[in-house]
Amino acid sequence: MTKKITFHIQHGCQLNGQARVAGDKSMSHRSIMLGSLAQGVTHVTGFLEAEDALATLQAFRDMGVIIEQRGNGCVTIHGVGKHGLKAPTKPLYLGNSGTSMRLLSGLLAGQHFDCILTGDESLSKRPMKRVTEPLSQMGAVIETTPAGTAPLHITGQAGKLHGIDYIMPMASAQVKSCLLLAGMYAQGQTTITEPAPTRDHTERMLNGFGYHVSQQGNQASITAAGQLTAFDIDVPSDISSAAFFLVGASIAPHSDVLLKQVGINPTRTGVIDILRLMGAKIEILNQREVGGEPVADLHVTSSQLKGIEIPEDLVPLAIDEFPVLFIAAACATGETRLTGAEELRVKESDRIQVMADGLQTVGINVQATPDGMIIQGGTIGGGIIDSHGDHRIAMAFAIAGLCASAPITILDCANVNTSFPEFKAIATNLGLTLTSQEEA
Ligand code: S3P
Repeated sequence: MTKKITFHIQHGCQLNGQARVAGDKSMSHRSIMLGSLAQGVTHVTGFLEAEDALATLQAFRDMGVIIEQRGNGCVTIHGVGKHGLKAPTKPLYLGNSGTSMRLLSGLLAGQHFDCILTGDESLSKRPMKRVTEPLSQMGAVIETTPAGTAPLHITGQAGKLHGIDYIMPMASAQVKSCLLLAGMYAQGQTTITEPAPTRDHTERMLNGFGYHVSQQGNQASITAAGQLTAFDIDVPSDISSAAFFLVGASIAPHSDVLLKQVGINPTRTGVIDILRLMGAKIEILNQREVGGEPVADLHVTSSQLKGIEIPEDLVPLAIDEFPVLFIAAACATGETRLTGAEELRVKESDRIQVMADGLQTVGINVQATPDGMIIQGGTIGGGIIDSHGDHRIAMAFAIAGLCASAPITILDCANVNTSFPEFKAIATNLGLTLTSQEEA
């Protein structure tokens, strides 16, 4: 049984210094998937050695790929080629990782073997019809539970998938990526149209491996013609992990933090735009390109934030950062309104409800709405928060402690290890007084 971890946060600290936060989770997943399908050996540096990306790594080992973990984020993948995966001998267990399950369902739909995808309690409640429905239009055979959830039983349809034109009903990089991966095994062209731009790491990395994805406006198209050629990938720091310190250094007086080598792909930088609209002082320094992805150092100093209406077009570009952005809003003067973010209800937890409950516990006046939240800035008090096993909620409330008037205790924090195992070490090094307590 996994250990229960509780965080205790001493209030009123400040953040100072430099940090390089963990590697990007989305890119780490994709480096394993595409490196496995490539011809040749792919060396990855900056790989995120956290539970989610390691679940993907293990799944590919279970399908016969030799993957060496050399420590310190260095991973070597001995690619087996597009048609070289082997049938796993047991269900592929994907832990808490929605990205692993949704992307793998597309990749495995057109293989010459059958397999079963399973996950933990949270992943087993998350909607999978958003991928299985368009995949079945392509000829895939995937069985879900009657509720449309995992486990997914995939009957491989090698040579039988066909391309479709799919207009996505929601802005989701996971759905887009799933269908692109299925399209690599389909007859004809697969074209996906997205209602708003979402992260494009799959498209960029496929192109890096020499596999052509054409991108025009809000459409991405792929065919089965092509193969992947191994190349070396340097994964930048995850802006979704950096976001905790962008907010923390903004809200904690007398803070000054430099976050090194952060990925600033324009499909991920909504958090910087939203914080700047709120009055945050964030400088983008030393901008450069690493392996087809833009990277920079981010310098952030304290500021008095103000409440805003969050522009809806920024929502998909900051989709994972709302838990900590709600903390920024709670510390701001005036009202912050978020709309158009119903996707937050189907993340690792219902992030609208769980954050609204937590903010109310610490004395903030909030109103949860079906697609967002209205937050009145105020003074964060102390209290005991239930993170519902959601890593980003646990870390968001740890950051809230920086400007709280009393200590905050956060329950059910073990899943911080799914995305950011060094969170405690980096946060304490920068100045947050965080102690954790483990029990079996
Ligand atoms: C991800 C896409 C997003 C994001 C998730 C990672 C990806 O999910 O929330 O953490 O790597 O493609 P959706 O596509 O469901 O929005």
